[in-house]
Amino acid sequence: MEIKKVGVLGAGTMGAGIAQVSIEAGYSVVLVDVVPEIVEGAINRLDKAWAKAVEKGKVTEEAVADYKAKLIKSTDIHDLNDVDIVIEAVVENIDIKKKVQKQLGELCKTDTILATNTSALSITEIAAATNRPERVVGMHFFNPVPVMKLVEVIPGVVTTDDVTQAVIELAKKIGKEPVLAKESPGFIVNRILVPYMNEAANVFYEGIATAEEIDKAMKLGAGMPMGPLALADMVGIDVVLAVCDFFFKEFADSKYRPSLAFRQKVRAGHLGKKTGRGFYDYSN
Ligand code: 3HC
Repeated sequence: MEIKKVGVLGAGTMGAGIAQVSIEAGYSVVLVDVVPEIVEGAINRLDKAWAKAVEKGKVTEEAVADYKAKLIKSTDIHDLNDVDIVIEAVVENIDIKKKVQKQLGELCKTDTILATNTSALSITEIAAATNRPERVVGMHFFNPVPVMKLVEVIPGVVTTDDVTQAVIELAKKIGKEPVLAKESPGFIVNRILVPYMNEAANVFYEGIATAEEIDKAMKLGAGMPMGPLALADMVGIDVVLAVCDFFFKEFADSKYRPSLAFRQKVRAGHLGKKTGRGFYDYSN
């Protein structure tokens, strides 16, 4: 099946990034979020990214005008009724994901693919909430979406092969490298990366080193592009904690116990870059 028009539901960091790379690859995109300020925030972010790209000579002003013409913004989920795929990127909460996917199943064309960008949750459980579980698939992007090359593709237990193949092709067309993963909590990357960030938070909580020292150590000693605590700030400490909690519950293994440093930061509302404070202060 050919995908021409892409819908993105959820215009936060991930949704905005997914809309950006899809438009840049030539797709028409309908970007929806029920909160008008979040839609406007995403549009501002895209405008800034494209203005920067023009400044750097990476794209022409004409190309950017074409990108903008391909973007439809909306606060009404019903505007997704005629897209060929919806990439849902709402908050990482199973009940909310099930609710919006059920809604999507009711309002989209019968052959629309419903993809979910989840960090760790069960695709099968999300799919079972819809009227078309065989057309629901996991499509996991990485932050920052315009830069990170990977998309994990995760079929649920009843996802059909043509749907999996269609999102693999879509990922390639938007300049990403798809990797197929079987359904399991956290799939490949987060199963490995989140416990790593969690252990860094434990090292911080135990006072073994400062955030700066921990990050410096992992960059210079292990060749990481950025330190684990700066990464948690970038991803969002609430998101990382939600994944840790999920692993701890699913695997019932103490090795996944969430760090108290994450819990304390979330309780304080220090969620990382998006709130101006996490392990680091971004207020300036
Ligand atoms: N958005 C868009 N573009 C960005 C960006 C952002 N937030 N941050 C950096 N960039 C671009 C820059 O504009 C620059 O582009 P250019 O080459 O065209 O000039 C390029 O990326 C390199 O940026 P910098 O030179 O400023 O910085 P670095 O070389 O240090 O790269 C980084 C920044 C790409 C963020 C790098 O540090 C990195 O790869 N970090 C690790 C990121 C990572 O692990 N992500 C996965 C998180 S887990 C996840 O997302 C899963 C989820 O489910 C939790």
